[in-house]
Amino acid sequence: MEFENIVFELDDNVAIVRINRPEKLNALNLQTIMELKKVFSLLKHEEVSAVIITGMGEKAFVAGADISEFKNLDAESGKEFALRGQEVFNIIEGFEKPVIAAVNGYALGGGCELALASHIRLASENAKFAQPEINLGLIPGYGGTQRLARLINHGRAMELILSGEQIDSAEAYRIGLVNKVYPQSDLLKMALELAKKITSKGQIAVKLAIKSIAFSKDKPLSEGLKLEAELFGECCSSEDFKEGTRAFLEKRKPEFKNK
Ligand code: COA
Repeated sequence: MEFENIVFELDDNVAIVRINRPEKLNALNLQTIMELKKVFSLLKHEEVSAVIITGMGEKAFVAGADISEFKNLDAESGKEFALRGQEVFNIIEGFEKPVIAAVNGYALGGGCELALASHIRLASENAKFAQPEINLGLIPGYGGTQRLARLINHGRAMELILSGEQIDSAEAYRIGLVNKVYPQSDLLKMALELAKKITSKGQIAVKLAIKSIAFSKDKPLSEGLKLEAELFGECCSSEDFKEGTRAFLEKRKPEFKNK
């Protein structure tokens, strides 16, 4: 499939998806958002066990939604605009295979929201994060008010969104917005290393862990625990579980078949 603003490649069973509009700091125009949706529906069926999302070039991950497309938005089209982006980011958050954001530069507005929708966030030392929509008389519309406030301290999320303050990757790490920070030159290598570490595990357990953790975001603990027990049971009926425990007892590495 041909994409205009996205390139993707496979490294073994890891897909590296690059937003490719470096001349516009990888800003997400409508075309790119729709391509992102397409690429994830494609990857769902591919022999791919993990996805890394990053930006082309060394300056930006994604510098936000494309502001040049904001001109004619009104109440109705603005809502549609937000819902369209939310739909795509929900697909990413709900993806059954691990999605790692390798934030290689500016992650502003929709870029920060794209990182927030990913399962794991790694950043380069030069990365910058912000929800600067307030400077445009807007609020985040691709999930930022919800996911940022759930991921980090509520008051800090409020401060970042109300002030539009830009923070560097050290501060993003300090507040728990990113898991790890690496020199720019190591970022992709480390993201791949993490992806491959995860893909070396039994993929049934990986999938069910993602499902269970995702559920914890907006459901009460009692319901989450019920689901966890159900999914734990589902793992126990897999060949991978039998192989994993057998390998431990036989003091060898497990050979998971993802069954
Ligand atoms: N939408 C559309 N175009 C964007 C963009 C966005 N979100 N972010 C950057 N660009 C474009 C610029 O307009 C410029 O295009 P041009 O060369 O045709 O004029 C190009 O990308 C390079 O950006 P520029 O502003 O010249 O780079 P800079 O290094 O001086 O500044 C930023 C970098 C990120 C600080 C600045 O581009 C910026 O503030 N971008 C908008 C961020 C934002 O508000 N995002 C949230 C949107 S809701």
